[in-house]
Parts: sequence; structure tokens; C-alpha cells
Amino acid sequence: MDSNKDRVIGVIGAGTMGTGIAQIASTFEHTVFLYDAYPGQLEKSKTGLESILNRQIEKERMTKAEVSGILSRIHYVDHLTDFKQCEVVFEAIIEDLQAKKDQFSRVEAIVPKNCILATNTSSLSIASISSALKKPSRFLGAHFFNPAPLMKLVEIIPGISTAEATVETTKSLIDNWNKVTVLAKDTPGFIVNRVARPFYGEALRIFEEGIADAPTVDYAMKEIGGFRMGPFELMDLIGNDVNYNVTESVFKEFYYDPRFKPSFAQKRLVEAGRLGKKSGIGFYDYKNPENNPKPNMDEKLGQTIFNRILAMLINEAADAVYMNVASVQDVDMAMKNGVNYPKGLLEWCDTIGAKEVMNTIQDLREFYSEERYRPNPMLRKMAESGIIFSELI
Ligand SMILES: NC(=O)c1ccc[n+]([C@@H]2O[C@H](COP(=O)([O-])OP(=O)(O)OC[C@H]3O[C@@H](n4cnc5c(N)ncnc54)[C@H](O)[C@@H]3O)[C@@H](O)[C@H]2O)c1
Repeated sequence: MDSNKDRVIGVIGAGTMGTGIAQIASTFEHTVFLYDAYPGQLEKSKTGLESILNRQIEKERMTKAEVSGILSRIHYVDHLTDFKQCEVVFEAIIEDLQAKKDQFSRVEAIVPKNCILATNTSSLSIASISSALKKPSRFLGAHFFNPAPLMKLVEIIPGISTAEATVETTKSLIDNWNKVTVLAKDTPGFIVNRVARPFYGEALRIFEEGIADAPTVDYAMKEIGGFRMGPFELMDLIGNDVNYNVTESVFKEFYYDPRFKPSFAQKRLVEAGRLGKKSGIGFYDYKNPENNPKPNMDEKLGQTIFNRILAMLINEAADAVYMNVASVQDVDMAMKNGVNYPKGLLEWCDTIGAKEVMNTIQDLREFYSEERYRPNPMLRKMAESGIIFSELI
């Protein structure tokens, strides 16, 4: 796509993600058709976006003219007829395979023959959705993060039938929207939702064993690790229901690999309705914050927690590279821009030394005798040879 303006973009699904993608495309001066199967949702999307943008005027981050420009370029439609002009269509409807397949086969019959079709799915395979299309070479995954207008990362996921030109055109369009695009193989969780699992999983394991409570783990990851949020605060913010479902889906998709095993502690919270911030209580009590215990600031304990979680994250990042899910560079960019990690995990490994990271994992493996703590072969080789990840870029 040679020009970044004047493209006609279609968005299907006017919920959180669809509205965000429409806002981005319109900000970059494209004409946008935003469709939803539920007219009430279109109204909600419109008023929601107006109020977000009006706040930008109040804060003097945008001018009135800019805001009215963005709003005027988005056309809220309850039919797909206008999609016959679209050059690229982004789908962001509910996470349901059949619903997505139905919607794509309907829209494919309307759009021009060269129109690119992209899904924002987080957990379904690109291959499975593509089976609904007559021309799957024009189809791929474009996985935005929430909130889409603010989060820099977009994972681009070609499916088994995606044409090279489809990837290139989509990537260049989204790069022009000031996003950071990374290429990911069509595997469960793509990059971020796979590599980030130990941030939650290992924290939950430490919690379940009674090694440390939630505030202590969060304290260690923030104060020693420099993460913006601790794992438990983050699970409460994401919603324990949402976070548990992602873990469970990745676990199942990986044929029950013990590395991704969900936690009973989190499952019980979900069952009890303790979903996190949105329900007033999760790992933390948000209604009565005085009930939350204070963290144990013991330095040695904090360092042990941090080393353990970081080593497991690095092991997963190495696995993604080893299994050709993504390049060293893209794995690091994904974690920095999709979940705001303070450093790329592989870059972090180079600083600490693969040997040190391997020692932590091997100690865990010896102690637990569990497959969950198996070191990645690439990491092991690097520890032995002294080669570092940045040499592989
Ligand atoms: N929310 C996130 O954090 C996030 C992040 C990345 C990706 N995603 C993915 O993006 C997609 C949308 O998620 P969301 O959080 O915006 O959901 P949402 O519930 O906010 O919005 C979904 C929208 O789709 C509409 N819809 C449902 N069925 C439809 C159909 N058959 N045809 C047209 N519209 C239909 C609904 O009315 C609703 O407006 C999902 O695939 C999700 O996995 C979500």
C-alpha cells in the first residue's frame, strides 16, 4: 500500500477492540465503516468514543478539529453493503470460531476481490478461521492489544494459506499507524500470550506453595525486577476469569504441557466470583484495602522470587525462538510493547548470562522433578557455548 491515507477500512464488531481499531484507522485519515450485528452496540461504541475524544480536547491533547475529523470519518453501519469499497477489513467480534467463520464468509462475498481480511482473535488458530474463506491467501491475523489506540504492539500472524503480499501490505499499513509490528507463527497464544504465561503461572505456584503471598511477589517483581505491575495486581486488573481462560486455552492447545498448567488458587477465585478489580475483590480486596497484608520486604526472599519468575519467562522466550514462533528481536519487542516489560527477556538473559538462568531452572527441576521445569535446549546450548542472543539477530 503506497499511501497511508484515503484507504477504506472496514471493522466488524464495535466492542472494545473494534472501536479502538476504528479510532486508529480514522486518526490516520482513512474512511472507516464500523459494523456490528447489534445496533445498540453501535450506539454505545459511538458515545463511548465521543466521550474518550472529548476528554482529549479537555486535556488539550487534541484540537476540536482533530476530534471532529476522527468522528466524521467513522461510519457506523448495521449492514455490510458499504464494505464493497473496503481495501482492508479487521474483524473483532466475540471469540467464537463459528461466529467468526460465518462473518468472514458473509463479508468475503461483499468486499472487492483484493480486499485483505484480518482477524483480531487472541486464541483461535488463523488456520481454523481461514477454512471459511474461498480465498484464504488474503486472510491473516492482526492481533492488537487493549487499549488498541494506546498499546504499540500488533502481532501479525500469517496462516498456512496466507500470501506473502497479504502480510507485507498489512504490515506496512499498520506500521504507518505508528505501531510496532512483529511476525508470529500461527501457534497458541502467538508471542505475548504464550511467553507471558510464567509471569502468572510461576507467581501462582509460589503463592500456592506458601513461599510468599501476593503482595510479596508483586513487591519483588516491581521493586527488584522493575515491572510496572506485579503478577497478582495484573491478574486482578485483567480479571481472573479472563486470565484463567487464556491460561486454560493455551494449556489445552499445547496438549496439556505441564509448563502451562492452570492454578487451582485462581480457579477458586473465579468460581467464587472474585474476579479482581471489576468485582471489588480478587487476590486483593479493593473495597477494604486495609485488609490487604503488607509485603515481606526480605531482600533474599524477593531476589529468589524474581530470579525464579524471570528464569521461567526467559525459558519460554527461548522456546518461542527455538520453535520458530518468532525472531529474537520480535520476541523482545513483543514483550516490551505488548505487556510493557521493562526489558526484552532475551536481552535480559544476555545481561544476566544464560549460565545463571540455566542454573536457576536446573535447581527448580532437581528440586521438583517436574517436566514443567525443563530447560529449553537452545538456552542450555547457549549456557554451554557462551553465545548470546544478540549474536543471533
Ligand atoms: N479485550 C481484549 O483485551 C482483547 C485483546 C486482544 C484481542 N481481543 C479479541 O478481539 C475480539 C473482540 O474482543 P472485544 O474485547 O472487543 O469484545 P467485545 O465483547 O467488547 O466486542 C465484541 C463485539 O462484537 C459484536 N458481535 C458479536 N457477535 C457478532 C457477530 N456475529 N457479528 C458482528 N458483531 C458481533 C458484539 O455486539 C460486540 O460489540 C475477540 O476475538 C477477542 O479475543 C480482545
